[in-house]
Amino acid sequence: MAAREKAQGAALFVPEEAGLPELRAAAAGCRGCALYRDATQTVFGEGPEHAAMLLVGEQPGDQEDRRGHPFVGPAGGLLNRALDEAGFARDACYLTNAVKHFRFTERGKRRIHRQPGRTEIVACAPWLAAELRAVRPRLVLCLGAIAAQALLGTGFRVSERRGELIELPEHAVLATVHPSAVLRAPDREAAYREFAADLGRARAALDALAR
Ligand code: URA
Ligand code: SF4
Repeated sequence: MAAREKAQGAALFVPEEAGLPELRAAAAGCRGCALYRDATQTVFGEGPEHAAMLLVGEQPGDQEDRRGHPFVGPAGGLLNRALDEAGFARDACYLTNAVKHFRFTERGKRRIHRQPGRTEIVACAPWLAAELRAVRPRLVLCLGAIAAQALLGTGFRVSERRGELIELPEHAVLATVHPSAVLRAPDREAAYREFAADLGRARAALDALAR
């Protein structure tokens, strides 16, 4: 990796004061870390420019990488169900990820998800910051530890603080687990109910903030 890429991350590629279409176009050419090399494409966030709620996941998965849209695989299916039950229309939300390229290792023909490291999270953070500036959501919902730590710092523990409303000057934040963790849980139904309850808390918080 060139030293310049390493030092600067995505910051070199983010246009100033840009709206979402300009950001998306610029992100397609990002080389802020090494992940662009093996992934198919940048998977930028999607949703209305001034969505009240912005959701942050970890990184695109296999299907997202192929199709170019966030949360269109199994985790997305579970998320859709929970959003719907909590009274959110998915297309009224802005959905994005802490890291915009798929990180994986190849095992035969399969591509196995690899968690993004600090390098990728820090490198990619300028895109998330730019999305937050463009969308200006009232509530940010963090899905899992990578998203929560990207927004709230590496000391943040989802296990201790899930479902808690954290009010920052620019927006409120609520963290919950990642929908993939629900899919992997030994008791999937119980895990789903807890996840859905957190989305219910997000709904109530958003309704209160709108008043
Ligand atoms: N998992 C994520 O964190 N984001 C996606 O877009 C898909 C799966
Ligand atoms: Fe740029 Fe983020 Fe992709 Fe790295 S993961 S190349 S910083 S968009």
